[in-house]
Amino acid sequence: MSNGTIVNNDKWRNSKLEIQMSEIINSHQLKYLHSLRPEPDSLILEMEKFAEERKIPLLDWKSAELLDQILLLIRPKRVLEIGTAIAYSSIRIARRLKKKGIVDTIEKSLDNISLASEFIKRAGLQNQINLIEGNAKEVMPLLDKKYDLIFIDADKEDYEKIFYYSLMMLKKDGVLFVDNLLWHGYPASSKVPPAYKNSTKYIREFNKLFTNQSVLVTSIYPVGDGIGIGIRT
Ligand SMILES: C[S@@+](CC[C@H](N)C(=O)[O-])C[C@H]1O[C@@H](n2cnc3c(N)ncnc32)[C@H](O)[C@@H]1O
Repeated sequence: MSNGTIVNNDKWRNSKLEIQMSEIINSHQLKYLHSLRPEPDSLILEMEKFAEERKIPLLDWKSAELLDQILLLIRPKRVLEIGTAIAYSSIRIARRLKKKGIVDTIEKSLDNISLASEFIKRAGLQNQINLIEGNAKEVMPLLDKKYDLIFIDADKEDYEKIFYYSLMMLKKDGVLFVDNLLWHGYPASSKVPPAYKNSTKYIREFNKLFTNQSVLVTSIYPVGDGIGIGIRT
């Protein structure tokens, strides 16, 4: 796996924002798709740069575009996100909801909670984003709401438990949107670096579970780091 990056020099990209190389889509396609990406607004761009500088993982921009489209198609009233980080995806989701739409987002890192609440304030979305502090494995059983869309983007060893809670909390016809199911390409590779062995094992097991649910129509797409979409029947 290459750790290289493609540096883009177009007008809004000459700000050192880098495209991560991918084992999931080849670099020519990725570079081409990135050349077509509409310029994000200044807050989104600032958050992408901020996260890149601090090595905080965010939803890949192409996956964020896919999520955007699903939100526009299903027009959810209530969304649950597991893994807020700095609220990049929470803000993107909230901006696609109607006025009364709500995003409940769970984050366990106190440092990230404080960054997220600052960005949410700056986006003027305090009334639409509920930032919930805690480990999702403990918080989810306490929530009594049902959701139109649940976005899972947390630690890989937690995916299975979070998934089972999500199944109970997802409305009929609701959408489960799961990030990192192709995990840098490792689940499909025989060469997995030692630092990724455990997480890859969790993702491989999760993918079998995810694609074998009678109550979900699922597919895993080679977008970003691999997006799983499941529709609750
Ligand atoms: C990949 S980042 C989330 C990125 C965010 N969804 C975005 O795209 O802007 C994962 C975040 O999930 C948090 N996290 C991981 N496991 C968690 C859990 N079990 N409960 C709550 N938060 C968790 C981490 O602290 C980290 O901030």
